[in-house]
Amino acid sequence: MTNIAVFASGFGSNLQALIDYQKKHGFGNGKIVLVFSNNAEAFALKRAKRNKIKTCTFSPQSHNSRKEYDDAIDFMLAQNNIDLIVLAGYMLLLGPTIINKYRNRIINIHPALLPSFKGTHGIRDAFDYGVKVTGVTVHFVDEGLDSGPIIMQEALSIKQDDTIETVEENIHAVEHKIYPLAVKYFCEGRILLKGRKVKIL
Ligand code: GRF
Repeated sequence: MTNIAVFASGFGSNLQALIDYQKKHGFGNGKIVLVFSNNAEAFALKRAKRNKIKTCTFSPQSHNSRKEYDDAIDFMLAQNNIDLIVLAGYMLLLGPTIINKYRNRIINIHPALLPSFKGTHGIRDAFDYGVKVTGVTVHFVDEGLDSGPIIMQEALSIKQDDTIETVEENIHAVEHKIYPLAVKYFCEGRILLKGRKVKIL
C-alpha cells in the first residue's frame, strides 16, 4: 500500500487530474488518503471534500515558528502513514526534517523545462524570455529550489500566435496528463534513482 498525501495551496487542477485518474485507472497499490493545504481557502480542499478525501489545513502563521509548522506537518504525515508526498501547486518550501525523512518520496510538478525557469512563475518567465520550446517537469524534491532529480519531462512549442493564456492552457493540459503517470510509476515501484539519473522501468 502506498498512502499518498497531496499538498496544494490553490486551485488544485493537478489534484483534480490525480483524483480523476485514480477513479478511472487507479494507482496500483497507491491511494490518495490526504490533501493538505497551508491555505484554508484553497479550492483544492473543496475538490478533496467533494471526493470524500480527508483534508487537513494549517498555516505557518498559526504556529510560533517555521520549525513548529514543519513539526506539525511531520506529525500529520506520520499519523496518516504517508509514503508519498505529491506537491501540486504547494507554494511553500518544505522544511529540512521532512525532506530528509521523505527523501526520494516527495515529488513536484514544475511548469517549465528545468533547470530553466525555476521558481513560482515558470510559465510566464519562459513566455517572456521568448523561448520557442517550454514544457513540464516532474521531479523529486531536495533541499534546493526545483533542483531535485528529474523523473519526467514533456516539451511543447510556443508558436508565434500563442499568448500567455494559450501557453498556460497547453502547459496545464500536459501537467494533467503526465503527473498522474508519474504517481502511478512511483506506486508501481518503477522509478529507479541512481545519483541524479532516473530510470522508469
Ligand atoms: C501548476 O502549474 C504546477 O506546475 C505549479 O503550480 C501550478 C498549480 O496549479 N507547481 P493547480 O493548483 O494544480 O491548478
